[in-house]
Amino acid sequence: MITDIKANKPRPITSKIKIELFKRGTNVQHAIKILEAGNHILITEFYSNGLSLLQELKAHLNKKFPNKSFLEQKEYRAAYHKLSNLILIEIVDHKLEVKKSPSIGWLEKLYPETGNFFLSFPQIQGLNSSWQWYKKGITIPVLRNKIHPYYGTYFPTRFEHLVLFDNWLKRYKGPKKSAIDVGIGSGILSLQMMKYGFQKVFGTDTNPNAIIGLAEFMGNTKLSRKIELDFGYLFGKWKKQTELIVFNPPWLPKLKNTDTNDEAIYYNEKLFPDFFKEAKQRLLPEGKLVLLFSNLAQITNVTKEHPIEKELSEGGRFQLEKYLKKRVKTASDKTKRDQYWRSTEEIELWVLKNK
Ligand SMILES: C[S@@+](CC[C@H](N)C(=O)[O-])C[C@H]1O[C@@H](n2cnc3c(N)ncnc32)[C@H](O)[C@@H]1O
Repeated sequence: MITDIKANKPRPITSKIKIELFKRGTNVQHAIKILEAGNHILITEFYSNGLSLLQELKAHLNKKFPNKSFLEQKEYRAAYHKLSNLILIEIVDHKLEVKKSPSIGWLEKLYPETGNFFLSFPQIQGLNSSWQWYKKGITIPVLRNKIHPYYGTYFPTRFEHLVLFDNWLKRYKGPKKSAIDVGIGSGILSLQMMKYGFQKVFGTDTNPNAIIGLAEFMGNTKLSRKIELDFGYLFGKWKKQTELIVFNPPWLPKLKNTDTNDEAIYYNEKLFPDFFKEAKQRLLPEGKLVLLFSNLAQITNVTKEHPIEKELSEGGRFQLEKYLKKRVKTASDKTKRDQYWRSTEEIELWVLKNK
């Protein structure tokens, strides 16, 4: 049952801990010393007091790690992460206790069991921006309605791959009885398939928040009878063969010895072999397997291996029916430092069929 799944959320602190108060006028250097000793600071009075302490902490760490070398940048980030998470904020009755603070609906939705607890200031910032996205919704060029991504769920910030998929769906002439959307995220690919007349989509995700969020979004509407969800690995409980399987997988290999554990972005070495093996069992003889991918890992020299090309040359299960690619628009000013590779980034749509 979807109602039994537990959402990922920042862990609330409910036990008693040693804490020092921070308000306007508190000596900042003293506060930073407390953090460096591994103790907690509680933000009081105004939300902005937390913001200014974070600013001061950044300035302090910038002095400590002035170098722009990769290693120092990494140390800076690690130190900021550690110390900033010792800065706490109190939640009373599902609301931030300090004045002039944003109202964050997640505090009620994600913590039904307790209204009074502490979270770290960066966690609150994360919950706050996620709440803004969720409430306002995000306009997706290929969909009529906005999507409302649930806390901790992947949503796209660029749309080239969705346009590729949309164009492919527009021309698709095969049967439209059912499809499987592996790693459904905020449901965009499934909604595109609905738009083009698919009668049923079976979606999965290993991220509980994706499943909970979509179940909530669909409620009891007609959509909830057309898109069925399962919280599970790859195909989850869906065993029946379908005429279309789509997967927009993570695009980057997980590097050893890093804490890159976001499953929407990084894949481990088992993911693609497992996926193709299981997809083979679930694709109808005339079915299509559609994957969205990019050359990001290759052009940033993270790996030379392309998991889809590898499957095609070594797997013996599928053959290529169509391969489309699209240049990604040049980066905006904000991401200028990445521009050297952005300019050559290409999004790929792969259509495979049974051999
Ligand atoms: C790049 S996102 C794509 C989400 C959505 N399909 C879209 O196109 O907007 C990849 C999604 O796959 C999910 N995922 C990663 N590994 C998975 C696995 N082994 N089984 C099921 N889902 C997985 C992630 O949690 C994430 O939601």
